[in-house]
Amino acid sequence: MRGLFCGKGDRNEADGSRGLGVRTLNLFGRPRHGRRDLRNRGAFLGKWDESHLSVSRLVAVSPSEDGVVGWAALARVSSRAVYGGVAEVSVYVADNFRAKGIGKALLKQLIAASEQNGIWTLQASVFPENIASLALHKICGFKVVGTRQRIGIVNGIWRDTVLLERRSEIVGN
Ligand SMILES: CC(C)(COP(=O)(O)OP(=O)(O)OC[C@H]1O[C@@H](n2cnc3c(N)ncnc32)[C@H](O)[C@@H]1OP(=O)(O)O)[C@@H](O)C(=O)NCCC(=O)NCCS
Repeated sequence: MRGLFCGKGDRNEADGSRGLGVRTLNLFGRPRHGRRDLRNRGAFLGKWDESHLSVSRLVAVSPSEDGVVGWAALARVSSRAVYGGVAEVSVYVADNFRAKGIGKALLKQLIAASEQNGIWTLQASVFPENIASLALHKICGFKVVGTRQRIGIVNGIWRDTVLLERRSEIVGN
């Protein structure tokens, strides 16, 4: 983590409420050219902003690379009040910056921020072959609930995912 800074990526004066989404697009190379791509980008950002909690949006910034090298955010899993404290984790680190502790720093900070904001259970859905993500979540206190069979479809292929969850010991006890 030396030389890297993990900070909040939500509302700020320069970027508005979609700042993290913009940085996410830049980081992962979504369409950035042409009017149609700009419209697509706007639609993507709008959906991203709507579907993620405004609290707990984090970015990892490398001053030397002059940009965001990772991010983490939460999405609500249900609109029902009974599940009001349950959220889904997303955490991503750029290829060249993996295995340097950034994912762990982001996820730990995300967990702390979620608890500060009344979230009692975090969940993550991970492809079974994603060893790094499974290890990261387990190290941060997530437990495997089970494998969901043929739950999603990617490029026409049905995929299983491993469902992990972390129950807070300080919120909702
Ligand atoms: C999963 C991901 C966020 C991990 O980020 P990272 O910065 O590389 O992870 P870290 O360096 O913080 O490593 C955290 C722990 O995971 C483990 N880990 C990381 N990469 C690993 C790998 N390739 N194989 C096995 N374990 C690995 C390490 O044991 C490490 O624990 P340690 O510090 O005790 O050694 C990153 O690989 C990524 O962005 N992947 C693509 C997106 C993704 O899959 N996101 C998760 C979807 S929910």
